[in-house]
Amino acid sequence: MTKELEKCLEDLQNCNNELEMWTDSLQELSDIEIAFEPDERDRLHGKTILDIGTNCVKPLYIALRFEPDKIIGIDENLSYSFASDLEQKSRSFAKTEIKLYNCSLFDEETLRKVLIKEKQVNFDFVLVSKTLHHLRDGECVAEERDKKHKHRKDEKHCIYEFQERKIFKKLFELGQRVIIHENFYPEEEDNDKVRGRGGYFTMEEWKRILTHLSQNYVVEFIKPIRVHLDPKVLEKVVAKLRQVDSVFFYVKKSP
Ligand SMILES: C[S@@+](CC[C@H](N)C(=O)[O-])C[C@H]1O[C@@H](n2cnc3c(N)ncnc32)[C@H](O)[C@@H]1O
Ligand SMILES: [Zn+2]
Repeated sequence: MTKELEKCLEDLQNCNNELEMWTDSLQELSDIEIAFEPDERDRLHGKTILDIGTNCVKPLYIALRFEPDKIIGIDENLSYSFASDLEQKSRSFAKTEIKLYNCSLFDEETLRKVLIKEKQVNFDFVLVSKTLHHLRDGECVAEERDKKHKHRKDEKHCIYEFQERKIFKKLFELGQRVIIHENFYPEEEDNDKVRGRGGYFTMEEWKRILTHLSQNYVVEFIKPIRVHLDPKVLEKVVAKLRQVDSVFFYVKKSP
């Protein structure tokens, strides 16, 4: 009986998580809208989007709301049945072509094949929603947070370094404008991290990332404050970040 109850609770939790994904994605649309800067009819006709770390739901909402030409979503852990269902069913009522692939941003070969298949070299927008902290691929830096950190073979408690210079260079090879949304709770454990790839950014990491971006790109902050990020307001933005748990901004190449 206890086993059955445990299974029911687990199923219920999964349903709850799924429902949250739909409602959260809907709520986040208004911030995304600012970053997309759609035309006066609220459309993105002629535009293309790459959604990195896709939950498949956001592409659907974006397609219905803004009607871009094409959205390609990649995720290293894609739910095949959900993705193909959504891809097929959206065809009958969305004007946007939605394509979803099981592919990691770090898997150069598969990503190249996807882009060739889709005849797509560069996108208008690269959306990185709640996924930037998963793009850690340097050495383990967990000791900086926990002096007692011991590497284990499964790397369960490891946290790799986030290499902002390298990652943003890569993101800008894929698109013109990079949209970042992150939630962060520096003291909390990130449940869906894979080995050292994951773990919320600390304030020190944010400072480093934002300093690099403000010195090399054009950064427009949407949340927690609407501001153009230049070195003069950097400290103010970082101070504000300490009071909140979510951040939204977009980055363009300097003209
Ligand atoms: C917290 S979820 C965010 C999902 C969705 N973008 C959203 O806004 O709700 C992070 C997603 O990133 C995916 N992911 C992590 N590392 C990745 C990588 N290197 N390439 C592609 N997807 C990755 C995970 O599989 C997971 O689905
Ligand atoms: Zn480690």
